[in-house]
Amino acid sequence: MTAAAVATSPTDWLDTILKDYAPDIDPKLVKTLSAIATACEGISRHLWTADGEAKAGSSNAYGDDQLDIDLYADHIIFEEMKASKCVAVAASEEKPQELEMGGEGYSVAFDPLDGSSIIDANFAVGSIFGVWHGRGLQGRTGREQAASCMAVYGPRTHLALALAGSVTRGAPVAMDLLLHPEKRLWTVSKAKLTIAPAGKVFAPGNLRATSDHPQYKALFDHWVGQRYTLRYTGGMVPDVYYSLVKGKGVFANVPSPSAPAKLRLLYECAPIALLVEAAGGRSVVAPAPGAAAAAAAAGGGGAAAPQSVLDVVADGMDVRLGVCYGGVDEVATFNRFMFAS
Ligand code: F6P
Repeated sequence: MTAAAVATSPTDWLDTILKDYAPDIDPKLVKTLSAIATACEGISRHLWTADGEAKAGSSNAYGDDQLDIDLYADHIIFEEMKASKCVAVAASEEKPQELEMGGEGYSVAFDPLDGSSIIDANFAVGSIFGVWHGRGLQGRTGREQAASCMAVYGPRTHLALALAGSVTRGAPVAMDLLLHPEKRLWTVSKAKLTIAPAGKVFAPGNLRATSDHPQYKALFDHWVGQRYTLRYTGGMVPDVYYSLVKGKGVFANVPSPSAPAKLRLLYECAPIALLVEAAGGRSVVAPAPGAAAAAAAAGGGGAAAPQSVLDVVADGMDVRLGVCYGGVDEVATFNRFMFAS
């Protein structure tokens, strides 16, 4: 399919697109992804007119204040998951429990609206989805995902979508779709997303951690000393999407004792890791300060060795971690600094 190809009707548009990448794709996976895209279209429409500051007066299970639009996005996604009849269970950052969706085929974890703290400033925000084969999310790794995607609500609405190798029966792939709101359909705007091994663009999240994480501070100084270009909005979706679309860069969110990890594995980190790795990049779990030295002092072991985010087991619904995503060489540089003992 060429980058400009348009599917013929709202019901078959995604099937037409995805068959080019995975000829024998499971129709239930297409339906699940189609339900996700439909929900994202609805959220995108709502964002044009919604009050970005209206507080719902509640907080989620993690104590984060909820906005009306967070709850709206959460609701519309759960409704689409149920309507698809292809989703067994789903859980969201707002409702972090495996909820029965009444269907069979796939399980979905999602962050309905990432970037609530920047939405009133009218920055780009997004939704993140991980789709796992079968029933259940707990005890799974990101590598077991069938697909993942993130919608970016900016001046335009895009959907970056990855299919795992278990679906393509070959290498994983990542592509980018563009929403045409007037026609209520999406077209392929980039047939293949790829991240080059090196590219001097950085997005240093949780930067306050540099005050008590010497390795992160040294890495930050390296990026500045090497004249990297800063591209950081404070929204993980647009910040990682930048690397996917520009084809280069590195994103990090490193925890420290005074600035602990807040990114969630199931709803944010694992789905984005699949997208980045499907685009030829790497993901890695960010270590605590001095982790390598501590592991060496304790007689070695794997604890401080670099680990792909895709290999972290979700042994609960609230696993949190620090991450780095980016080109192969950029993540190797991250590892060199962060795992130094
Ligand atoms: O989900 C948390 C989040 O909003 C991410 O989207 C973003 O990358 C991060 O927090 C920003 O954290 P900080 O402002 O500490 O860099």
